[in-house]
Amino acid sequence: MIVASTRDELAAARKDLRGRVAVVMTMGALHEGHAALVDAAREQADSVIVTIFVNPLQFGAHEDLANYPRTLEDDLAILGDRGVDLAFTPTPEVVYPETPLVRVCAGPLGDVFEGASRPGHFDGVLTVVLKLMHLTQPDVALFGQKDAQQLAAIRRMVADLDVPVSVVAVPTVREPDGLALSSRNRYLSEDERQTALLLSQALQTRDPVAGRALFDGTPAVLDYLERVDSTSFEAAPDGDLLVIAAKVGTTRLIDNLPLHDLSKHKDAP
Ligand code: PAF
Repeated sequence: MIVASTRDELAAARKDLRGRVAVVMTMGALHEGHAALVDAAREQADSVIVTIFVNPLQFGAHEDLANYPRTLEDDLAILGDRGVDLAFTPTPEVVYPETPLVRVCAGPLGDVFEGASRPGHFDGVLTVVLKLMHLTQPDVALFGQKDAQQLAAIRRMVADLDVPVSVVAVPTVREPDGLALSSRNRYLSEDERQTALLLSQALQTRDPVAGRALFDGTPAVLDYLERVDSTSFEAAPDGDLLVIAAKVGTTRLIDNLPLHDLSKHKDAP
């Protein structure tokens, strides 16, 4: 595996990749969910690039960018074992030589649900995703279904801005007890981890009212549990996606459950 941390190193290594190229974008602290993305990328393409970059632009002022887990050595070992061809591990100065004045705006999708509690978050995500697409020049980019609103915003950006990249969603990976894998799970104490199971249990009810009731009298603080349209993220009683966010201790967790056939999201090649 080649590890590139500058734009020149990336460009040189990218030139040598053969065939169809897939990219998996991450912020590091890799777990089995990321490994599933890499494995799916391998199925979609001849060459696989993984980016590891903790993107300052998607963190709010009150969010702890400095304390986001950084485990680069372990991450690179995982990617090497998984047969990744190229890892791009830039510093913020490489990605943002200057503070970007021009940014991608997520529009209404960026203002609701996760966007309501994290203003500007999706603009920051889309800006870095577009930049990383330009830098890595993939044919296909894979994103986890776990971050369903991010996925919807990226699909919309790719469509609205005519970005020549196919976007593929990869199903959420769960622990045997249902907890969705997340880099943030490492912040949970043993008790909090038990409480966090409420999220997947509430989704399993497939019903917002019944699911919300599960939180009554528990230490978890439910932010939302709603049925939405998975492309617009507008709340809809017959929406095809059930989305949830809750705070467990100081850790904010999200999860979702597709309720209908997801084939309508299949990208044109
Ligand atoms: O999902 C993530 O890890 C990040 O939001 C992404 C897509 C790598 C952009 O920084």
